[in-house]
Order: sequence, then C-alpha cells, then structure tokens
Amino acid sequence: MWDYSKTVQEHFLHPHNAGPMDDANAVGEVGSLACGDALRLYLKVSDKGVIEKASFETFGCASAIASSSMLTDMITGMQVDEALKLTNKDIVARLGGLPREKMHCSVMGEEALEAAIRNWKGEPPVPHAQEIGKLVCKCFGVTDAQIIRVIRENDLKTLEDVISYTKAGGSCGECQDEIAEILDAELKNRAEQKKIA
Ligand code: FES
Repeated sequence: MWDYSKTVQEHFLHPHNAGPMDDANAVGEVGSLACGDALRLYLKVSDKGVIEKASFETFGCASAIASSSMLTDMITGMQVDEALKLTNKDIVARLGGLPREKMHCSVMGEEALEAAIRNWKGEPPVPHAQEIGKLVCKCFGVTDAQIIRVIRENDLKTLEDVISYTKAGGSCGECQDEIAEILDAELKNRAEQKKIA
C-alpha cells in the first residue's frame, strides 16, 4: 500500500473539477492508454489570458487523479504565463508529497498544462513525449529532451529516480543503459557548473 498524504487521499476520494468541459477553449492531452496513464486537461481562458475554469479527465491511479485535481485548483484564476511557470514540484508540494514511484503523475500534470496553453495560443501541440529530441524509451515514448528536462527540474540523481518520474525504463528495461548515460552526463554537467559557481 502506498503512503499517501491526507491531501492526496482527499483529492482522490473527492476530486475537484473532474469531467469534460463543454465550453473549453483549450485542451491538452498527454500519455496514452497504451502506457497505462492518460490525462486530458480542459481550460476556459478569457481574452485577457486568465484561466477562468479548468477540468480534467484521467485514466490513471489515485496519484494521477489527485495531481490533476490539485492542478485544476492551482491554475484557476491564474494568467496563462504564470501558470506556465508551474512545475510538477509545485503540484507535489501542494499535495504534501507523492510516493517516489508515483512522481510521473505530477509530471503528467505539468505536461498537460503546457500542452493546453500551447493549444490556446494556437501553437502546435508538442506534448513532451514528442518534443524535439531522440526517442529513448520506445515502451513509453519518452525522448532524451524530456528525460533531461525532468532530471534538471527535479534534481534527480539515480536511474530509479528517472524511472519514477518519467516511467522511461520501467517496462522492458532495454533503454536503461541509455538513460543511465544521459543521467551520467547531466550529473557531470551539474558538478562542473557547481565548480564554476
Ligand atoms: S524501451 Fe524503455 S522500458 Fe522498454
């Protein structure tokens, strides 16, 4: 049994803003049913760029539901450019933490938000799973660019961390060597930058 915070339990049992939104003017989708997790985020954004309403549909576990529910609460009333600054860490902090193995649920929230705002701005939908970069994990459609971003944003240090946050490497495991190389390069980079600073 996972150790969930009280806030996670509350949002899972009584999710806020669940369900599709008829008058949404932006939609962001991430994940896929084939990967076992999917999230669709709906936004109603005013002409002035304020998120007036947010709702979600998810196919995922308790953490995915709680992360999505919390995200919709957090972004309601925000300017889109402010909302874009949110990361999965902010969602996790507001939830009072998530089990490490479930961190990818919060990353999914961050990615869906970015995809929805891109949609509202009329930009091409570039979900992180297809963002520019080389495909590393074929099982979960995760690129090197996505792995690097999550490593940097969350200060990840181990292969297990990367698997927990991105799901990459968590199925057949064939991509784990490549993920380890990416992580290694990032850690070296981080150490170099610390020396310079
Ligand atoms: S290719 Fe990454 S887990 Fe299978």
